[in-house]
Amino acid sequence: MEYKLQNDRIGIRETTPGEVRLVSELENVPENQMYIIPYPADRHLRAIRDPEEAHLIIQDKATGVIIGFTILAGLENPNKAMEFRRLVICDKGRGYGRQCLRLVKAYCFDTLHFHRLWLDVFENNEKALHLYTSEGFRIDGRIRDAVKECNGFRTLLLLSVLENEYRNK
Ligand SMILES: CC(C)(COP(=O)(O)OP(=O)(O)OC[C@H]1O[C@@H](n2cnc3c(N)ncnc32)[C@H](O)[C@@H]1OP(=O)(O)O)[C@@H](O)C(=O)NCCC(=O)NCCS
Repeated sequence: MEYKLQNDRIGIRETTPGEVRLVSELENVPENQMYIIPYPADRHLRAIRDPEEAHLIIQDKATGVIIGFTILAGLENPNKAMEFRRLVICDKGRGYGRQCLRLVKAYCFDTLHFHRLWLDVFENNEKALHLYTSEGFRIDGRIRDAVKECNGFRTLLLLSVLENEYRNK
C-alpha cells in the first residue's frame, strides 16, 4: 500500500473514484452529517481529480480497515494557505482524528513549506473544536449565520495555525 502520509498507526492514501460511494455513505451517517455539508458524488470526483485538492482515505495500518477520509484544498495556493476542508472519522474517540490532524500539519508545514493551515467548523461542534484548539489552532473569527439549513441558519468559526506556531508548539 502506497501511503501519502503515515505514522506507525495510520496510513493516508489517495481516494479512488470507486470509493466515492463509501465516502458518501460515511458523510451521510447522521452523527457526521450534522457537522458537515455532504458533497454530491461528482464534487467528490472533482476533488479526486483536481491537483488543487487532495481527497484522501485514512486506514488503520495494522488491520487495513478504512477509518475515515479527509479532504485538503488550496494545494497550489499562492499565499501558501492550505485548507483542511473535511475530516470524517467513523471509528470515533480512539485518537484517529488527532493522528490525522498531526500528519496533515506536518504535510502542510514540513513537506509543502506552507505558511497557514485553516479550516471552518460549525460553532456547536464541540468535539472538533476541542481537537483543533488542542492541536494549536486559534480562532480567527466567527462567520455568523453562514449556512442555511431547513431549521434556520448556522454559524461557522474560522480557525488557523501558522507555521511559526506549529514550530514553537
Ligand atoms: C470530529 C472528529 C473528526 C474527531 O475524530 P476522533 O477520532 O473522534 O477524535 P479523537 O479521538 O482523535 O479526539 C477527540 C477529542 O475530543 C474529545 N471529545 C470527545 N467528545 C467531546 C465533546 N463532546 N466535547 C469536547 N471534546 C470532546 C476527546 O476527549 C478527545 O480529546 P482528548 O484527546 O484531549 O481526550 C470525528 O469525531 C468525526 O468524524 N466527527 C463527525 C464529523 C466532524 O465533525 N468532522 C469535523 C468537521 S470540521
